[in-house]
Amino acid sequence: MRSYYCGELNESHVDQEITLCGWVHRRRDHGGVIFLDLRDREGIAQVVFDPDTRESFATAETVRSEFVLQVRGKVRRRPDGTLNEEMPTGSIEVLGKELTILNAAKTPPMQLDEYADVGEDVRLHYRYIDLRRPEMMQRLRFRSKVANTVRNFLDQNGFLDIETPLLTKATPEGARDYLVPSRTHPSRFFALPQSPQLFKQILMAAGMDRYYQIAKCFRDEDLRADRQPEFTQIDIETSFMDEEQIMEIMERMIKQIFQTHLQVDLGEFPRLTHADAMRLYGSDKPDLRIDLKLVDIDELMRGVEFKVFSGPASDAASRVVALRVPGGAALSRKSIDDLTEFVAIYGAKGLAWIKVNDAASGIEGLQSPIIKFIGEEVTQALMQKLAVETGDIIFFGADKAKVVNEAMGALRIRVAEELGLVADRWAPLWVVDFPMFEEDSEGNLTSLHHPFTAPSVPVEQLRENPSAALSRAYDMVLNGTELGGGSIRINQPQMQEAVFEVLGIGDVEAREKFGFLLDALSYGCPPHGGIAFGFDRLIMLMTGSASIRDVIAFPKTQTAACPLTDAPGAVSSAQLRELNIRLREKVGQSDPAVNPSGAETVQ
Ligand code: AMO
Ligand code: AMP
Repeated sequence: MRSYYCGELNESHVDQEITLCGWVHRRRDHGGVIFLDLRDREGIAQVVFDPDTRESFATAETVRSEFVLQVRGKVRRRPDGTLNEEMPTGSIEVLGKELTILNAAKTPPMQLDEYADVGEDVRLHYRYIDLRRPEMMQRLRFRSKVANTVRNFLDQNGFLDIETPLLTKATPEGARDYLVPSRTHPSRFFALPQSPQLFKQILMAAGMDRYYQIAKCFRDEDLRADRQPEFTQIDIETSFMDEEQIMEIMERMIKQIFQTHLQVDLGEFPRLTHADAMRLYGSDKPDLRIDLKLVDIDELMRGVEFKVFSGPASDAASRVVALRVPGGAALSRKSIDDLTEFVAIYGAKGLAWIKVNDAASGIEGLQSPIIKFIGEEVTQALMQKLAVETGDIIFFGADKAKVVNEAMGALRIRVAEELGLVADRWAPLWVVDFPMFEEDSEGNLTSLHHPFTAPSVPVEQLRENPSAALSRAYDMVLNGTELGGGSIRINQPQMQEAVFEVLGIGDVEAREKFGFLLDALSYGCPPHGGIAFGFDRLIMLMTGSASIRDVIAFPKTQTAACPLTDAPGAVSSAQLRELNIRLREKVGQSDPAVNPSGAETVQ
């Protein structure tokens, strides 16, 4: 139907008779001449109709925004003085000769360049219009190209693309499962995979050696800008490779992606142990573009009168830290109050501070509500330890280590953003030496990664002191976002059983849930390990998007719904009966079918 894309035209096409197809981006009537900006996937071309071509001119008068047209015409150079430097096709235009309306369009609910004025719900409801915006199109095209680089890289390195089932059993990755009722097995449910973790390990047991899949994963968890209930991983598993080799090849892949698509050399990725990441940045995914570090000051504060500091300073599960922020002395009282409210979200009970108005005048040059509590001597020692300079502000956090890490880690980022202290560069790193387990709020041990991660200690040591055990896991972090995570896996049934035991998963439960894995480990499973990258997150970072929703064609909203299709939807009672499901009426709800979450299986 067409000879060129609109955005493809340039001066080399001058004098050619061409045919374009596309959408009316804009129509302008210039007393006697009509200009149509015709848009397609590749860009926009200007088409001019003058009254000499009577029939097409008359048709051009009737078209409106977002009509779909076919235009035949001749490319010509734009007259001097009418060149548009901002448009790639801005030096030429098409003199329209024939115009066919392929489809009309109702007045669109939003102009493409005014999308910001409408809510995201409207954008997602009319996603086909939202996606016509050149920047959305650009992002999806970019995504497709990166996927292609990933496939090529992995293919060239001997990885096989193997699909794994979506109707399966639960995979524990720390979220709730999406369940699918089985018609043929009443009272039983499939779970959509939170990741292909178990299948990729089974593929290693099967001898596939190197596997990859650009895989859909499903997790029913609280949504944020970098989380979706349904998202995509670049999922990878290898046999007979240790963590060094896996990290090396994966670093090479990510570097190649950045080199190919952004012409950026990421350099060699630094490594940080989990313990150091928490100590210095209060986070297991530190943003290294920000050159601010937490400094432990427990020793200095142990003896002070100020109980807020001396208490945590003497408690092994707590910490007292200082964060020196250059330029922060300029923060107003109001800004500091806002920051105090901000850290309170993470459980901090306050946010003590010292402003260094003049470093040369010692105590006199400082301003703070807490110097009177910690005393001049300690303050002097503190200023020395932190090597303060005029214009700094020092913030303090004192509490249980978890609270301090979360609050001060978040404060570090927030203040850096506020004061423009985030360097304009890419900051990748590996975080290694994670603990195997962490304690949940009830004091039970849970896996920091997943229960199939190999510990770096032998079985006996793991059983003896599980909370001290480190794992053979590694995370790749980029600009403060966890891009990917992986590990060497357990490949011995005894070790797997020991880990289940530590996690409080008894023999019966372990057999019921993971019997197939334990069996696979018992029939000659090679040493293996792998990683999975969040593909949406990678594209979000590379395109500078604010949310992964902007790089997914049809994302879900904050409440995990799809405004386009109105999913999740009600189902007929006939369908429910077939599935042996009876819905329980929720309080205040007369039509149970509208809330499938109250579903009950008929026993
Ligand atoms: P993990 O749970 O760390 O590991 O997931 C790997 C990567 O997937 C991305 N990710 C998400 N992206 C968008 N929305 C979500 N809800 C979401 N959850 C996770 C992150 C994360 O780093 N099977 C293991 C990997 C392995 O051990 O090989 C796994 O799934 O970028
Ligand atoms: P108070 O004695 O509670 O008025 O606290 C004095 C100063 O210490 C105030 O600036 C508080 O914001 C701050 N503060 C209180 N608790 C903490 C805490 N746990 N960590 C850091 N600063 C705190």
